[in-house]
Amino acid sequence: MAGRNDPEPCREQDWGLFEITNRDGAARIGRIHTKHGVITTPMLLPVINPNLRTIEPREMWEKYGIEALITNSYVIWKHEDLRTTALSDGIHSLIDFPGAVVTDSGTFQSYVYGDVEVGPEEIVAFQRDMGVDIGTMLDVFGRPDMTREQLENSVQETADRAETSLSVAGSDMLLNGPIQGGTHADLRAESSLLMGSAESEGRGFAVHPIGGIVPLMEQQRYQELFEILLASKSNLPPDRPVHFFGCGHPMLFPMAIALGVDLFDSAAYAIFARDDRLLTPDGTVKLGDIQEWPFNSHALFGTTPQEVREMDRDERSVILAKHNLEVTQSELARCREAIRNGTIWELAEKRSHASPYLRESFLWLQEQLDDPDDGPIGDSVLRMIASTNPLRGGGEGLGDEIEYRPHILHIQALLATRWRVPGSWWDSTTGPPERVLLIEGAPPPWRTSALASVIEHLVEEPRTVVMISTPIGPIPFSIEDVSPWCHLTGPDGIWDPIFDDEEVLEALEEYGLSEVPLIRMIPIEGEEEVKAPEVRDWLDRCSVVDKLALLCAINPSESCKMTDGMTSRKSRTDRLVNVNSGGKHILSPRLTDGGISLTTHGASIANGLNTSPVPVFGSSEEDSDFPGIPRVCIIDDAVPFVGKGRNVMHGYISGADSHLIPGQPCIVVDSTGTLVAHGTPITTHLEMSYLGKGVAVKVREGAMKQDS
Ligand code: GUN
Repeated sequence: MAGRNDPEPCREQDWGLFEITNRDGAARIGRIHTKHGVITTPMLLPVINPNLRTIEPREMWEKYGIEALITNSYVIWKHEDLRTTALSDGIHSLIDFPGAVVTDSGTFQSYVYGDVEVGPEEIVAFQRDMGVDIGTMLDVFGRPDMTREQLENSVQETADRAETSLSVAGSDMLLNGPIQGGTHADLRAESSLLMGSAESEGRGFAVHPIGGIVPLMEQQRYQELFEILLASKSNLPPDRPVHFFGCGHPMLFPMAIALGVDLFDSAAYAIFARDDRLLTPDGTVKLGDIQEWPFNSHALFGTTPQEVREMDRDERSVILAKHNLEVTQSELARCREAIRNGTIWELAEKRSHASPYLRESFLWLQEQLDDPDDGPIGDSVLRMIASTNPLRGGGEGLGDEIEYRPHILHIQALLATRWRVPGSWWDSTTGPPERVLLIEGAPPPWRTSALASVIEHLVEEPRTVVMISTPIGPIPFSIEDVSPWCHLTGPDGIWDPIFDDEEVLEALEEYGLSEVPLIRMIPIEGEEEVKAPEVRDWLDRCSVVDKLALLCAINPSESCKMTDGMTSRKSRTDRLVNVNSGGKHILSPRLTDGGISLTTHGASIANGLNTSPVPVFGSSEEDSDFPGIPRVCIIDDAVPFVGKGRNVMHGYISGADSHLIPGQPCIVVDSTGTLVAHGTPITTHLEMSYLGKGVAVKVREGAMKQDS
């Protein structure tokens, strides 16, 4: 068997810290630091039955790359021989696994069999004494069919045990703090608040599993499952990984991950195998029903379903368990890759068709995105949209549900709040627009397909607001190269003018333009462009001003000053490459997604324009459409490093503006507000206030570089 080295233990000061390395909205790729190495999330903890090992844990580590697994401490505690060996040799030796070992506490047994014979302190001490990496306190299982009063008791009793459990776990073992509360959103939110804030000697829980959800999954009550998740997330500290207790069907991974689940655990791979069933990302298949494999795997390669049916029962259940584990692992890899390339939502959208129950829950989720509830679920949904990078490179496949994708909702919300009619026109006049020109029937790039018509109309009437019609609504011409619009892909017909006057006016109302006289036109292909350099320069400037407003929250009247006398360098294909102000390079439009990259000089000007107090965690901020370039304030110790271009690390931040958008420009300042660097935030302001490890801002350039 290919030997994989034992894990590098993490540094003691890092035990229990969670680091976010990539994100797509609420979905995140993280790293949990343990005594037995790093656990990369989202991942599944395979459940190991200490009495019945279908796949050897050692093989899971070596062959399947599994960094952590979960077993049940109560089962070990109940069996005298296992208990003795576990206490003398340690849990890693007992199950022969070198990675991180997570244990559960017996709560699930209490749900299945009634009471358990062990007390809350005893079971935590036992887990600690076996050398477990992440143990679980004895929570009180809240079944969905319990009365509200019973569920309130389960939340309260679990919370009452939290501090003692943390104290017994001590500094040697990390602890799971489960969230209960049945299907009541308010109880889940309350449980999250209580468990998220519980601590002993400054130590809180390392992970928060969402408990009591197995009966919902068994009954395919997925909408309630996701309601619970969103309600719990609304109050959980964002530096704690979230574990979906007992969830292991690959079909549920994309949606759960898109909503912020980091860990799964399940014995499904083995239980389904014993039952001659195969897991697939869109459901379960019975071995008895198939002639060919729905999915290839290393385990089944070179066999046929008939051959496997003829195997003896034990051999069959091992080979099917291995196949199921491979399918599970590959779906998780697909999800992680989707987080990296910004398509986790599209994957969830696709997978939602796997079951009518899952589909129902996805449709419900889309309704929430469209019109969030007042309450914890709506809070989570709004937070998810705000944490989603609105821009991304690459094609955006047009589908019926595109308008619900969080990045699209985010950019549309930014347009609705931050786009303004130009303050002055190309002929230097000011005042309200005389008309709106809506370009229709033209595909992107509109700078090619529509420019001649745009210039012609602007020459004719300088006070013209130019808009482009797209299948997902009209956009200002100034952002014609911004994704997702410029990357919409689909058959040519998607660009046909399909909206009637009423629909167009309704959409223009979002921009405050519904009262302005409207001209709709389809550009003529190949039309010669009238040479009007002042109009071209004005269009370029509008594009810079509008992007600074949308993506950097800079008031258009301020960025008009910033871009006064602006000059530019253009590419051979006539695209803006460098934008200069006062002869100095201030920013470059990004050709991949239409965003902008500031230079240090541009960041310094933007910083000068932001006159609000330097952000400090915990203090309130003014509510404004244009709060200015978002800032991250770092502590003095970090200034010399970040000033020279090192990334901003969590733990060195004293404040951040709440309108910071992961993936969009921000500046880094010291406590006096002086520019230290500029870059791109990975995390949100809330995460920055909690996280203790990992990169918070990827720095593009330090402002002190020249002096060093
Ligand atoms: N396994 C599945 N559900 C639960 C739960 O609610 N609590 C604990 N401790 N383990 C579980």
